[in-house]
Amino acid sequence: MTQVDEHFAKIATAYRDARTTDLEPILYIKELIGKARPLVAADVGCGAGRYDLLLHMRLGDEMFLHCIDANIEMLEELNDHLSAEGVPNFQTHRALADDLPLDDGSLDCMFTFNACHHFKLKSFFAEARRTLKPGGKLFVYTRTRTQNARSCWGVYFPGFTDREDRLYEVHEVAQAVAEIPDLEMVEFKAFRYERTAELERLLDQARNRHYSTFSLYDTEEFELALDEFTENVKACYDDIENVTWRDENILYVIERTG
Ligand SMILES: C[S@@+](CC[C@H](N)C(=O)[O-])C[C@H]1O[C@@H](n2cnc3c(N)ncnc32)[C@H](O)[C@@H]1O
Repeated sequence: MTQVDEHFAKIATAYRDARTTDLEPILYIKELIGKARPLVAADVGCGAGRYDLLLHMRLGDEMFLHCIDANIEMLEELNDHLSAEGVPNFQTHRALADDLPLDDGSLDCMFTFNACHHFKLKSFFAEARRTLKPGGKLFVYTRTRTQNARSCWGVYFPGFTDREDRLYEVHEVAQAVAEIPDLEMVEFKAFRYERTAELERLLDQARNRHYSTFSLYDTEEFELALDEFTENVKACYDDIENVTWRDENILYVIERTG
């Protein structure tokens, strides 16, 4: 088991509650996909399925979704969650993003949310090119290193930005796409969210290691950093029940052109 896999195995049961789920990218994706149905799609690095439920609710019954993840605990959570919500058309696969168990040219679209920084990016894009139909689209929702550095964790949590060196900047994603024949970056769109939370909720999220970045600290470093984070927030906000900050994400739209 890799360190990343160990991390996701530990947090699988708490994962959906620990993270904030954004509806905006799903609405934007829906607009771009339009009315074409039926759809065969895949969500790679699907985790516990919070975005798969939203995709099902917004794109409808006429979509079959392959839910793919390296981590078995996450897939079990997803299976329970989607089944409990009555989602009919999905199948889970334990697999890596650079070796997808899907046929050539079999997908209308592919999604990945908050996961591409864990993948071998160029090999993942080569798999997207292989498995998408010509004209099929890959939607990559993530955050850049710069966006991450501007979040409340980047600003107030000691070492967070330095340790999280896996995220990609736009030019790195564009370069990886450009290296795959017949794959083209069509657009990228930034999303900004004004957030408010109690300090206690933020501390709970960090203690639950809601970002895998926190698993890159050893226990002692983490406790010291959490104390310093608490002090930093208290120094900057009069009302610690209403800590406000801005989260930022980016959505890449990539197309198989030939
Ligand atoms: C940060 S979580 C995001 C989960 C989900 N997309 C969400 O937003 O809730 C990243 C997920 O990617 C999975 N993962 C990490 N490396 C992977 C790889 N190489 N191939 C497939 N899945 C991977 C992890 O197991 C984890 O479930």
